[in-house]
Amino acid sequence: MTAAGFPRQFGRYTLTRKLATGGMAELFIARLQDEAGGERECVVKRILPSFSEDEAFVKMFIDEASLTSKLQHQNIVQIFDFDVVERQYYIAMEFIRGEDLQNILKAATEQQNPLSVPLAVRIVIELANGLHYAHTKEHKGKPLNIIHRDVTPHNAMISYAGDVKLMDFGIAKAAERSTKTQAGMVKGKVAYMSPEQARGKPLDPRSDLFALATVLWELVTGKRLFLRSSDFETLTAILKEEAEPPSRHRKGVDKELDDIIMAALEKDREKRQPNVEAFARELTRWLHKTPERRAESLSAYMRQLFAEKVAKLEPPPREVPQARPERAGPGRTTNVDRNVAETFQASVPDVLQAKPPKRARRPENFADAATILEDSVSQEALLKALAESRQKRAEEVAKQPIQQPRKDAKPPAKGNGLLFGLIAAAVVIGGVVAFVLMK
Ligand SMILES: Nc1ncnc2c1ncn2[C@@H]1O[C@H](COP(=O)(O)OP(=O)(O)OP(=O)(O)O)[C@@H](O)[C@H]1O
Ligand SMILES: [Mg+2]
Repeated sequence: MTAAGFPRQFGRYTLTRKLATGGMAELFIARLQDEAGGERECVVKRILPSFSEDEAFVKMFIDEASLTSKLQHQNIVQIFDFDVVERQYYIAMEFIRGEDLQNILKAATEQQNPLSVPLAVRIVIELANGLHYAHTKEHKGKPLNIIHRDVTPHNAMISYAGDVKLMDFGIAKAAERSTKTQAGMVKGKVAYMSPEQARGKPLDPRSDLFALATVLWELVTGKRLFLRSSDFETLTAILKEEAEPPSRHRKGVDKELDDIIMAALEKDREKRQPNVEAFARELTRWLHKTPERRAESLSAYMRQLFAEKVAKLEPPPREVPQARPERAGPGRTTNVDRNVAETFQASVPDVLQAKPPKRARRPENFADAATILEDSVSQEALLKALAESRQKRAEEVAKQPIQQPRKDAKPPAKGNGLLFGLIAAAVVIGGVVAFVLMK
């Protein structure tokens, strides 16, 4: 059954249904036809008209979207296109068949089936991996200085297959520039801000670390850490109130895990772990201490919580992987770029079979993936050539013992020739001298 008003066209996308309405955008499931006749399912996040008309927001939105579309990591929802259609700005990104952490927490409470402590830790380690990648991402040798600024359960997705993905990088920065933000802000998001963000101070990656630790505290305890009845009280709690150790609210949290979380929740960022990677390392060490902690399956838990939804899932549309990227405009990514990146990640042998032209122009935004793709093809060819030449050489060497005596026999033959030549020359010269003397 199709919903009223769908499918409908939006630029080159066919919107098939509405997914959600967030603080500043409407989200649609969309399909995009690719050149090879396949279809890609994606999410189009269309910025609400009130924001699309806000110049300061739009400028920052474009800047941030062009930065974050360069992020390619298994723990980050991939953006592959952003543009403007009929004066409405949008981002197209990968569709995650799953739920955001907010929904997961809600379902877990309703079904009295809480997320286990090890699974909560595992989710946060993966989010930390995505964050650290973004924090340290460079482009053409220069750091991009990306800070998420809005690490909340709404912005973390878990797929039914158990993939963990963070989304909406940079959107918060654009939102901060907008006069509409206060009205559009999803209620309760203030409660994940770091103290320095609440004060409006310049941020570094440790601000995201504080927010991530707030999320972990909530995943473990099932309670909101700083949320109070008004934004003012919430901000005061962030700035002034010490968090309680999570072990007071949940069995299975030991002193070591308490300490890791509490360190990341220090009001003074100098006292926190130095970066998100260090936090992830400490959590990983904790997780790996007992084998039972690692054994659980996130996907099994998701399928338990959302059994009905999973049973009704439609299969994704047929996608044809493309090996040949098309040219994209500067600062743009296309569906095809995404295919290239994915094709590379998924299966190099297919790419090799498809034999992309060696000197094909690669699109700007997925330049990294394309370079690797190109390198991998030539490297592969090189290795093959090398292996062939080694094989040839080995065969030659194997033949050598038979050829050796013949080789050895040749020099004396050459030497004999020379001797005969010298004798003949001496005879001729001698003859000439004798003839002259006789005269
Ligand atoms: N790529 C995606 N794949 C699947 N579901 C998504 C995707 N992006 C967003 N969603 C769903 O849509 C919801 C709304 O997203 P959106 O980012 O607009 O709102 P929000 O995160 O609640 O608020 P904000 O506007 O502050 O980001 C998400 O919480 C998530 O459940
Ligand atoms: Mg969001």
